[in-house]
Amino acid sequence: MRVCVYILAILAAVPYTRAQVKHVDMNIYGCSDTVPGQDSFALDGEGTGHSDFALKQFVMTLPEFADPFTYGDDAFYTAVQRQFNCLDLVREEIKGNNHSKEVLEPPVSSIYTRKYVKLGVDNQLICHVTGFFPPLLRLRWAKNDVYVSKGVTLGQFQPNNNGTFTLFSSLNFTPKPGDYYTCTVDHATLKQPLIKEWSADKWITPRSIFPIVLCAVGAAVGLLGIAIGILFFIKGSQCN
Ligand SMILES: *[C@@H]1O[C@H](CO)[C@@H](O)[C@H](O)[C@H]1NC(C)=O
Ligand SMILES: *[C@@H]1O[C@H](CO)[C@@H](O)[C@H](O)[C@H]1NC(C)=O
Repeated sequence: MRVCVYILAILAAVPYTRAQVKHVDMNIYGCSDTVPGQDSFALDGEGTGHSDFALKQFVMTLPEFADPFTYGDDAFYTAVQRQFNCLDLVREEIKGNNHSKEVLEPPVSSIYTRKYVKLGVDNQLICHVTGFFPPLLRLRWAKNDVYVSKGVTLGQFQPNNNGTFTLFSSLNFTPKPGDYYTCTVDHATLKQPLIKEWSADKWITPRSIFPIVLCAVGAAVGLLGIAIGILFFIKGSQCN
């Protein structure tokens, strides 16, 4: 039932556009009487800021290189107002119309590293989940089949231009031979969890094969040398 309430709430979200279709500035908010609400802004699908209802403040999430701008001192206050309006709307909606017409979209996910992979050097795995609706899913990281929570960060649901959502999560890790990592996603549209795996071995095998090949070639040349040597030795002893 929790999911149902949330879906209705998201339908009440108001995307608005600025400028002539060149850029899309979105404000997406959702509310629920059982789970915390969300109120976030995105420019061209990139999250720019959101209200943190637990911290009771507005949080900017612009990348460091972006030109600084703010949504104003009252950004959090207006988000709280929107939550009240949203909850009113949801209650009305449930009373008047007991079936939502949402289109469910399953997520797709991919896993990759932030930096070039070097054994023993700290790195970060990124799990990128996109194209899903409703914005309610569970994402879990596992190392060698054991779920981990240490070193995990989870982003906000970011709206895409087509009404679906994107979520990023990262895991700090140090690549070691034999270790493998998975990003598991559960979503209402999936019969089975969506699992993506990353293992250091897949990365280092192509490079570590080279010394083995070199060694094999070296051994072959060596053996050939010995064979030729024996041949000459036999020839030489036949001459005598
Ligand atoms: C909404 O519909 C469900 C079944 O689809 C029913 O069980 C529930 O009582 C209805 N709620 C309201 C408020 O009409
Ligand atoms: C919606 O947009 C996302 C990201 O841009 C894309 O991955 C997904 O396939 C799109 N979904 C549909 C139904 O068009």
